[in-house]
Amino acid sequence: MNEKIETDILIIGVGIAGGTTALKLADAGHNVTVITRANEPKKSNTYWAQGGIIYTSPDDNPDLFTQDILHAGAGHTYPKAAKILAEEGPAVLKEILIDRVNVPFDLNKDGELDVVMEAAHSVPRIIHATDATGRAIEIAMLNVIKDHPNITLLTGHTAVDLLTTNHHSKDRMSLYEPPSCVGAYVFDRKERMVKRILARKTILATGGLGNIFLRTTNPKGARGDGIAMAYRAGARVINTEYIQFHPTTFHHEMAPNFLISEAVRGVGARLVHEDGTPFMQKYDPEWKDLAPRDVVARSIRQEMIERDIPNVYLDLHSYVDQSEIKSHFPNIAERCMAYGIDISKDLIPVVPGAHYSCGGVWVDEWGKTSLDQLYAVGEVACTGVHGANRLASTSLLEGLVWGARAAKDVANSLGDAPSINETIPPWNDTGQFEPDPLLIGQDMSTIQHVMWNYVGLVRAGYRLQRALRELRHLETEIERFYRVSQMTDDLIGLRNAVRTAVIVTTAALANKQSIGCHYREDAVE
Ligand code: SIN
Repeated sequence: MNEKIETDILIIGVGIAGGTTALKLADAGHNVTVITRANEPKKSNTYWAQGGIIYTSPDDNPDLFTQDILHAGAGHTYPKAAKILAEEGPAVLKEILIDRVNVPFDLNKDGELDVVMEAAHSVPRIIHATDATGRAIEIAMLNVIKDHPNITLLTGHTAVDLLTTNHHSKDRMSLYEPPSCVGAYVFDRKERMVKRILARKTILATGGLGNIFLRTTNPKGARGDGIAMAYRAGARVINTEYIQFHPTTFHHEMAPNFLISEAVRGVGARLVHEDGTPFMQKYDPEWKDLAPRDVVARSIRQEMIERDIPNVYLDLHSYVDQSEIKSHFPNIAERCMAYGIDISKDLIPVVPGAHYSCGGVWVDEWGKTSLDQLYAVGEVACTGVHGANRLASTSLLEGLVWGARAAKDVANSLGDAPSINETIPPWNDTGQFEPDPLLIGQDMSTIQHVMWNYVGLVRAGYRLQRALRELRHLETEIERFYRVSQMTDDLIGLRNAVRTAVIVTTAALANKQSIGCHYREDAVE
């Protein structure tokens, strides 16, 4: 087993953003190494996206789309980034998803793409593949990626840390040169060893951080790996207090977190208590259940606190035709049924959950981070598009557009990039102890509870300070334990989760105003 791998281009993660970068570069004739921590690569954040992806329609235009993005972003969106997304999005979507990987988007009765409306969009512009758009995209993309002759896909490989000249090089003089990313230390789960992947260009595409919260719509792997690694490597990380919470995550003792799409309320379902009484009219008499996402999520929280109840419910069957339920939501129906909930006749238990990180690793319009030769694309990155709050269905498109842009920049600048850095030593394996899964589970659960209760939907300075004290103490313990333990994927995730939790909490404490999805009950105007 070779401990060292050399590659021109290393991509960490294979959701829509990493997949797009890989595909564009490989199609242009470059050899690319893609790693994913999943043994089954399709289970990325992209895979679980239910809503749709923004395309366009005859009533739409880039200016209108830009305005909608800026409006959602609560004055904090970077207009240049919003404009890029609006102007380039439809063409990139057509080129990659429709023409290159042939995603089976739903068609209307005339055989054309079925374009629908979503909350906070001025016109219909969203296309979908029933209620499992992300899954359709990920499967189509991976079908092409896994057989591409220019792509080496390494599954079951978890990035441990980014390699930088100033942190890792044996050449002492590199300390005086500008820092640069030269690849990553990567844990091969099957061989149980840490390898060096030395690369001339590295692209982070690790997805989000929802799983550092107790309730989330994200899969288990969304534990802030990319943000923590980039932070340790010295890259700028911004806007991390802006965590978008989704109002409706399926709530069942035995079930993993999963999203119940906003589209369910879009067709008429209502939020109710166990006896079927709706409550949203109390909080927003005009929009009721279709009030903005953050308003609905905070209202649910308030009901849960006041009534001391673990969840509220979505009532679909009292308000929506059976035929519509079946045709629109086959995936949600199947997943709920696995836990004994028949959405055509039962109430669906739901709670709010962390959904999307609007901030992340700062990148420019080409996906370049502040660290030389390191790029970031997708949810791990912060392009400025989402500002302080994200417009629904923009994230897949952002992954696509910045994935393609990063590929273009990498291809254009590869000739000038430094050659493989040979001064990086093999991993120094000091870990002797088998990590105790109970300890890892307990620490992860502490992080999730602290984040949910003190850094969640409604924040206040005294709670954030308390969270920071607890998280810092925990981080010291975890870091000590990490140094003496044998490597596992869970241990890597725990270390990243606590670092990301500290980053998010520090940002939330520093921002004393309520803006977008960062809501402080002690806000100063
Ligand atoms: C949803 O389907 O409710 C989520 C879609 C999104 O967040 O873009």
